[in-house]
Amino acid sequence: MPQNWLYRRFNLFLERHMPEGLFARAFIILVAPMILLQSIMTGLILERHFENVTRLLARSLARDVSLLITLYEDSAKTEADIKRIQQLANERLVLGLTIQTGATLPDPAPEPLFSRFHARLTRELNVETGKSFWIDSQSEPGFVDIRVAVEKDVVFRLLTREERAQATSTDMLLLWMVISSLLLLGIATIFLRNQIRPITDLAAAAQSFGTGRDTGAFRPRGAREVRLAGEAFVDMRDRIARQVEQRTAMLAGVSHDLRTILTRFRLELAFLGDGPKVKPLKEDVDEMQRMLEAYMAFVKGDGGEKASEVDLGSLVQAAARTSERPGSTLAVDVPDGQMVRVKPNAFRRLLSNLIGNAMRHAKKVEVKAVISDHLLTLTVDDDGPGIPPDKREEAFRPFVRLDNARNLDETGTGLGLAIALDIARAHGGELKLDDSPQGGLRAVVQIPV
Ligand SMILES: Nc1ncnc2c1ncn2[C@@H]1O[C@H](COP(=O)(O)OP(=O)(O)OP(=O)(O)O)[C@@H](O)[C@H]1O
Ligand SMILES: [Mg+2]
Repeated sequence: MPQNWLYRRFNLFLERHMPEGLFARAFIILVAPMILLQSIMTGLILERHFENVTRLLARSLARDVSLLITLYEDSAKTEADIKRIQQLANERLVLGLTIQTGATLPDPAPEPLFSRFHARLTRELNVETGKSFWIDSQSEPGFVDIRVAVEKDVVFRLLTREERAQATSTDMLLLWMVISSLLLLGIATIFLRNQIRPITDLAAAAQSFGTGRDTGAFRPRGAREVRLAGEAFVDMRDRIARQVEQRTAMLAGVSHDLRTILTRFRLELAFLGDGPKVKPLKEDVDEMQRMLEAYMAFVKGDGGEKASEVDLGSLVQAAARTSERPGSTLAVDVPDGQMVRVKPNAFRRLLSNLIGNAMRHAKKVEVKAVISDHLLTLTVDDDGPGIPPDKREEAFRPFVRLDNARNLDETGTGLGLAIALDIARAHGGELKLDDSPQGGLRAVVQIPV
């Protein structure tokens, strides 16, 4: 359907050429019709005004001229009569009249292109005097020169100011229109800004909540719809906070109870000494403890931790220390003294999970951090066996271990990557797996800072 096509094209055009921001868009929606309407109205009114005034002035001028001619024709045409008529014209009608005898009309003067006044005056003079005449409104700026052949060899020359014959300057009107338009624009701008600020505030609050920053100062305001959205956001934020709190409290309880039992186990095992049957039991208890801690870390998420400014380098170093392993080397390339705003404990866990994985599977590990455009990109490369592309998604799932013969003996819960992903997202970022140029796995964390 051509209509549909046209509509789509129009939409596409708007989408491409409309400015991005709500402020600019609203401004156009509000101001474009206003300017259009004002211009049309101004145009129409001025046009009308000019037309009317010019017609009236031209007519009255033509009538004055006709009156003078009649006076002349009806008089005895003596010197005194002529003087009297000239006096009348000069003083009463503001028409500089000279009566030229023995003169004829000059050749027609070039007609101005867009002068409505010229045409009007020609028409009115035709109607009112019925004589042949000559008009020049251009040679002398501000003046109109009219000559009428009154009778054979007698020419009336009338010189008058332009205002006498046509509507002039509307500068003041235009100035007032511009001033009032600017005033309106100013008011619209202030009003619009005030309408849009609550929306940007809400977006900023949602963004900082998403990255775990404080949104305490946020207060819903603005138009009703925006306020409703803001209130919905605050409700949601509080609900989530409450849930996290409950979950953490419950976990703290469970972990406390289980740890107490584990400690008792340990104690009892210690009494049993170091017999060959006791060793595997001790190892089991150790592993149970490790697993318990991993589960806890997973369920706790970031545990409602607050973000703070920390030195990225020392964070990476701390994570590296907890993941050290004999036989594997770690190279760290992080800008010196780079401060980042993250949840320190959660972020350290994310790093040690990734570095730990790499150290476990590879000999050479490299950690690199780059910050550009408020985006922190952290890369952990290793030269291990890597993970085939079709298994990468699976690796992120909780409790999934891509076990192979090589690490069967290793302990692990399969939660490392799941936790790391959770933490990256809690910072408003992402975690992705890729091929490393070193031959193994590359883990890339990107978070806004
Ligand atoms: N750098 C790596 N190179 C090769 N395989 C990896 C690497 N990192 C993870 N994997 C694979 O992905 C699986 C999931 O990793 P994840 O960290 O989630 O669990 P895990 O390391 O097995 O256990 P946990 O981290 O809880 O101790 C691992 O079992 C391992 O097979
Ligand atoms: Mg792991």
